[in-house]
Amino acid sequence: MPNSLFRTKKISAILSEGGDDAHGGSGLKRVLTVRDLTFFGIAAILGAGSFSSLGGAVFNGGPGVVVLFIITAIACAFTAFCYSEFASRIPVAGSAYTYAYASFGELFAWIIGWALIMEYSIGNIYVAFSWSDYFTSFMDKCGMHIPHWLSTSYTEAKNAFANNGNADDVNAWSTAPVLGSLKIILDLPALVINVLITYLVYRGVKESRNFSNVMVILKMAVVALVIIVGGYLVFSQGHTANWMPPNDAGVKSFMPNGFSGVMAAVAGVFFAYIGFDAVSVLAEESKNPQKDLPRGMIYSLVICTVVYILLTLVLTGAVNYRNFEGVGDPLAFIFEKDNLNIGWMQFLVAIVAVVAMTSVLLVFQMGQPRIWMSMSRDGLLPPVFQKIHPKYKTPSFATIITGLVVGVPILFTDKTFVLDFTSIATLFAFVLVCGGVLLIPRREKTEGRFNMPFISSKIYFPLLVLSAILILGVFAKDYYREMFQMNLNSKDDLKVVESVVHETKSKFRDDFLLSSNQMSIIKKRLGAKKSQVEVVEKMDANNELLNKIIDSIASSRISTTAAYKENYANFSNSSVDENLIIPGDKSQIAEAVQVSTNNYPASKTITKDEISAVQNIFDLKEDSVLTAKFNNQIAAYKLLGKDTLSSNDSNLVNSINREFASLKVGTLRNTAVNKLLVKKTQNVSMIIFWITCILLSIFAFKRNWSLIPLMGLITCLYLLTGMTLANWLWFGSWLAIGLVIYFLYGNKKSKLAS
Ligand code: ALA
Repeated sequence: MPNSLFRTKKISAILSEGGDDAHGGSGLKRVLTVRDLTFFGIAAILGAGSFSSLGGAVFNGGPGVVVLFIITAIACAFTAFCYSEFASRIPVAGSAYTYAYASFGELFAWIIGWALIMEYSIGNIYVAFSWSDYFTSFMDKCGMHIPHWLSTSYTEAKNAFANNGNADDVNAWSTAPVLGSLKIILDLPALVINVLITYLVYRGVKESRNFSNVMVILKMAVVALVIIVGGYLVFSQGHTANWMPPNDAGVKSFMPNGFSGVMAAVAGVFFAYIGFDAVSVLAEESKNPQKDLPRGMIYSLVICTVVYILLTLVLTGAVNYRNFEGVGDPLAFIFEKDNLNIGWMQFLVAIVAVVAMTSVLLVFQMGQPRIWMSMSRDGLLPPVFQKIHPKYKTPSFATIITGLVVGVPILFTDKTFVLDFTSIATLFAFVLVCGGVLLIPRREKTEGRFNMPFISSKIYFPLLVLSAILILGVFAKDYYREMFQMNLNSKDDLKVVESVVHETKSKFRDDFLLSSNQMSIIKKRLGAKKSQVEVVEKMDANNELLNKIIDSIASSRISTTAAYKENYANFSNSSVDENLIIPGDKSQIAEAVQVSTNNYPASKTITKDEISAVQNIFDLKEDSVLTAKFNNQIAAYKLLGKDTLSSNDSNLVNSINREFASLKVGTLRNTAVNKLLVKKTQNVSMIIFWITCILLSIFAFKRNWSLIPLMGLITCLYLLTGMTLANWLWFGSWLAIGLVIYFLYGNKKSKLAS
């Protein structure tokens, strides 16, 4: 039995079954050239990652995310070499799956094939969701509104409602029609595009290729335009200071949230690179797979890396990174009125985003059936998966199943979940591919094929690992102490409290205060309307007042929490008096208001007419965020007119207080537990990572391994350390299901078994 798990497939056997024409071929048409393959690579790579998830990545890491793009590009480049090496040795369809079969054996091959469903099918769910986001907002710009309950996922709307999240999603939950007790909420555009793409792939590769080439040219042109126009404006309008934004402590930094903030963007950044490997599944349809596959992969990877670095710089230059929170269309966003303000660019980007993501969907939807076809040929999946359509020459059954695997979860999942899931599984597959290249025997250079340059890792790799360990020890003093620390000590408890308070504070500012940017836009639009400008100026003054109130409440939170902690040393004690933290706030607020009122002249109440005049001028009704802020400002403005702060008219203060009151001990405890979990996962991951580095150094030295795959392996492992415990648990469960299926079916039916 153990032997059967690791039985490997002979490379010659793979070639004879695959598309090698000398052996009769597989029935797929050989039509693709190196240019087509590069285009396929770009078609697969540039998509929802750059058009959508880049926003979240930039929000997490700030301009410094560019560093993560470079690290990830390096990991992908090493991996691309490994894919290329495999592709040039085993030029048949199947991607990492086939390669693993030749090197690690059947069980690992199955595991990879199973993980690749994440990359190809589940990844496409994210792209379909993003496609729908852009499509919906594009239709909106054309004056055709798709109701939100028909363009968001059920889970997203439900979560938003429960956690008071994204306003549109909350709205979808409240306005959705009800059938029995079930709310009808579904992402219809995502479902429809999936059906269309499945149909296109079913009809055949040639049609798909023509379609895809046009789309790639289009999206490259628009991305170039974004970089050129955006880049020019960053300099000409003098926004370059955005590359060094102040962090929470007010210190200017390229990485305002530190390196951990940058690493928090890993799933989004890595997702943006997924796709270069999809080229390798087209082996059986390319004219000269040995030479062209590696080239296609590496060309497309290099082009996209340059694009990402420039895009990230333009984005973070154009707009302060903090403004990207929840922005799903970052490339269009930077051209909005309040930002670089170029309407036609916004429109163009929206159209092309729809096109770009269509091409990504296409490539992955083509890849998945081909992997299943290979698995079916090996007996690991039922024979029906290798059925080729007599007329269209495509794997017809497998294509339809792919459509279902992408389509059905669109009804039940949401974007964040599928993004994390896709990235962890794909990184896992990359690790196995790099490991696989290390294990297959070296060979002589062959003319006309891709030959991975051999650089011995014997000395270099151990030296690299040793230097890294020493450098960290010398220059990052607390690195090892923190890595082995699995508890939050009391100093850290307080740090948690502080960071939660700071987060709440900045969230609160975002919700309530008009930014100086917004304020100056408003003033500009008001022009000569004197009395209204006056109103706005007073509102502006209120920003300072509100800041003071918020700061005052926040610092009282921190100090009372610290005091609380001294008395109740045990943070995890569940029978705590949650009210203990609250007292003292009211007088502090009143004091702050008093101080601020002394600073500004007491004002008269704003009239209704003034309010509506201002609202009309700003078109604020169309901008719910600005309207909300504006109303909050008015409430705050009214407060200024009072001598004392009575409980009846202190709505604003109450809501500030409510926000902070949610930081009661129970919440703090949960937050502490969550942060501890994240920290533990990171620490355990890093410890495993370093142990692996040391073990690999020993092997590298003993076995004289090739440096390139080894670097691919280690860089991908490093990226995996950025994954959360939840990601690992979901991925682990997915693998467990896969193993059950393998032992029930594949292990017995495998061709190698007979
Ligand atoms: N890299 C692909 C995209 O960004 C998956 O859409």
